Amino acid sequence: MNATMSLDEIKHNPVMLDQVLSIISPQHGGTFIDCTFGGGGYSQAILKYSDTKVIALDRDKSTQRYANILKKKFPERFNFFQNKFSDLKSIIKLNLNPRAIIFDLGVSSFQLADNQRGFSFKSKGTLSMQMGINKYSAYEVVNTLDKKKLAHIIKLLGDEKDGKLIANKIAKYRAEKPIKTAEELAFIINGAKKNYKKYKKNTATKTFQAIRIFVNQELTELILGLVAATKLLSKGGIIIVVSFHSLEDKIVKNFFNLYSDLNKNPSRYLPIKENKSGFFKQLSKKPFIPSKKEINQNIRSRSAKLRYAIRNNNLFSNSEEILKKFENYFKIEEMRL
Ligand SMILES: C[S@@+](CC[C@H](N)C(=O)[O-])C[C@H]1O[C@@H](n2cnc3c(N)ncnc32)[C@H](O)[C@@H]1O
Repeated sequence: MNATMSLDEIKHNPVMLDQVLSIISPQHGGTFIDCTFGGGGYSQAILKYSDTKVIALDRDKSTQRYANILKKKFPERFNFFQNKFSDLKSIIKLNLNPRAIIFDLGVSSFQLADNQRGFSFKSKGTLSMQMGINKYSAYEVVNTLDKKKLAHIIKLLGDEKDGKLIANKIAKYRAEKPIKTAEELAFIINGAKKNYKKYKKNTATKTFQAIRIFVNQELTELILGLVAATKLLSKGGIIIVVSFHSLEDKIVKNFFNLYSDLNKNPSRYLPIKENKSGFFKQLSKKPFIPSKKEINQNIRSRSAKLRYAIRNNNLFSNSEEILKKFENYFKIEEMRL
């Protein structure tokens, strides 16, 4: 891909794009922040409306090439930064007043398809799994992390009941020779699972998810990103998140519920209690999911959940409560090799 290619040559399926657009309504103009630019699907769709501006970021430097294409087409209305969204406040000015801040979490189809990066089980390249701006790679994690810590990560971040068995197998293997590729790692994990052929999904799915989350500190990123976005939005601004696994969705749901105007009532017979110290209005507490049609066209969308909340005017300065609530995730992801 190079900057002379046209936008239509970027082959990418942005997940739940129609729902995202109907919530953020770019036809009314304004500035939008795309925290997970990827192949630029959302940014490009927003920029089709002439009164819009988009500030996009992505931690992966390989996305710069797609950003260059959009920059060439919309030089005045589009800007891109290679950065992590936990660092949003260093990029966005406090008085910018964006209409919406959008997060589309996880890996992109480009990252998955890149054989050299080790995100997919079949990858024969180095076991990296790094999205960009990382402290360490999956190679370092599986080859050097203490066996007990590894089991803990696999169990908690992958929701994998056989975490200990898998960590044991990994430790046994690496004592002989280093685990170099994703394909090799998948082979070891499959060997640790009993009757692995009976499983519908690849039995390495959960362990791969856990190691990827750990390498990229994805839960810490999400929590800090949500906090930063809440601080940057003013009244009417929207935070919208598309997530792909239950840990992410749990964080988004808890974050919005904790900080929403309407707290859960202790009894359904009592009048609805307004919590004036909240920071959001939520129109629905249930997540939106992709249509059957979208799932048929793009299987990657099948696990997507979309949640959004609308900011009110209350000043959000103290994030202690939410940071405490998710302390456990910070601790796991801070574990040293
Ligand atoms: C699912 S893709 C986004 C696809 C995009 N919405 C589109 O339509 O092309 C997720 C992207 O978010 C990026 N990403 C993940 N975590 C990030 C973080 N903490 N900060 C910045 N970018 C991140 C990944 O590198 C990846 O490119």
